[in-house]
Amino acid sequence: MKIKQFIPVLAFWALGSSAAYATTVGFSQVGSESGWRTSFSEAVKAEAKERGIDLKFSDAQQKQENQIKAVRSFIAQGVDAIIVAPVVETGWTPVLKEAKRARIPVVIVDRNIKVSNDNLYLTRIASDFREEGVKIANWLMDTTQGNCRIAELQGTVGATAAIDRAAGFNDVIANYPNATIVRSQTGEFTRAKGKEVMESFLKSQPADEPFCAVWSHNDEMALGAVQAIKEAGLKPGIDILVVAVDGVPDYFKAMAEGDTNATVELSPYLGAPSFDVIEKYLAGDKNIPKLISTTGDVFTQATAAEEYKKRANR
Ligand code: AHR
Repeated sequence: MKIKQFIPVLAFWALGSSAAYATTVGFSQVGSESGWRTSFSEAVKAEAKERGIDLKFSDAQQKQENQIKAVRSFIAQGVDAIIVAPVVETGWTPVLKEAKRARIPVVIVDRNIKVSNDNLYLTRIASDFREEGVKIANWLMDTTQGNCRIAELQGTVGATAAIDRAAGFNDVIANYPNATIVRSQTGEFTRAKGKEVMESFLKSQPADEPFCAVWSHNDEMALGAVQAIKEAGLKPGIDILVVAVDGVPDYFKAMAEGDTNATVELSPYLGAPSFDVIEKYLAGDKNIPKLISTTGDVFTQATAAEEYKKRANR
């Protein structure tokens, strides 16, 4: 080949080879049911952009079937890695076997999965949801001296965040004979459903047996419950204590205003650890721990205003 002809070929090869090095990651997200979830999606997108990762984002709208379709489509596109934030725990084995056959590593983020063999995924990056339930229950039992009639707003049925938070909370209150969950229903982790369920709890609760607290599996439903309590002519945060998990800015604002009482922070910054582990693995490091844990503290009205300021400016 003459030199003149060779130059464009060389340029094409150089461009093509640099494009081939951009890591492509498919991310199947639960949906956008809560402020926490939206922050989590934004954090992953921002982190991918910063690292020059080509992110294929799919919002499952809280439906596992959409997640399974998304994972299959990522496999068909030949991505380098897949991140799954699963809606529910069960039903993942077949599609993860397909990813395994295609030699695509899968990182599970946030909620857990139950699979026939844990070699079907590379690692899980998550908080200890049971511990969150324990922490918030301890706060509530300390605050009420263990005397409390509790209304529980559960998260999505079958989701680890609902199952484990409930288990941790229930284990603690089992030690307090005068603490009881008197009403419990799913609010599907959304503000609208949290409000609707709380309205029905308030309507059907006998006047001489008032609730002492709402225990909500996430901040978003708790904020819906706050509206329902106000509309029923009661004072959230005083007449009915409000406790939850997440630590989203809106909840800190409500806490600073006295409408909510406590929350356990759940970090939404899960993009960086996910991409760290994927990059390590793709670079040949096969020594990846099966669980990478994040933790969060209990926050109360005492520091809510300053914490809100910090979060609102992020
Ligand atoms: O799985 C984590 C939970 O999912 C968060 O607490 C909640 O806000 C979200 O919907």
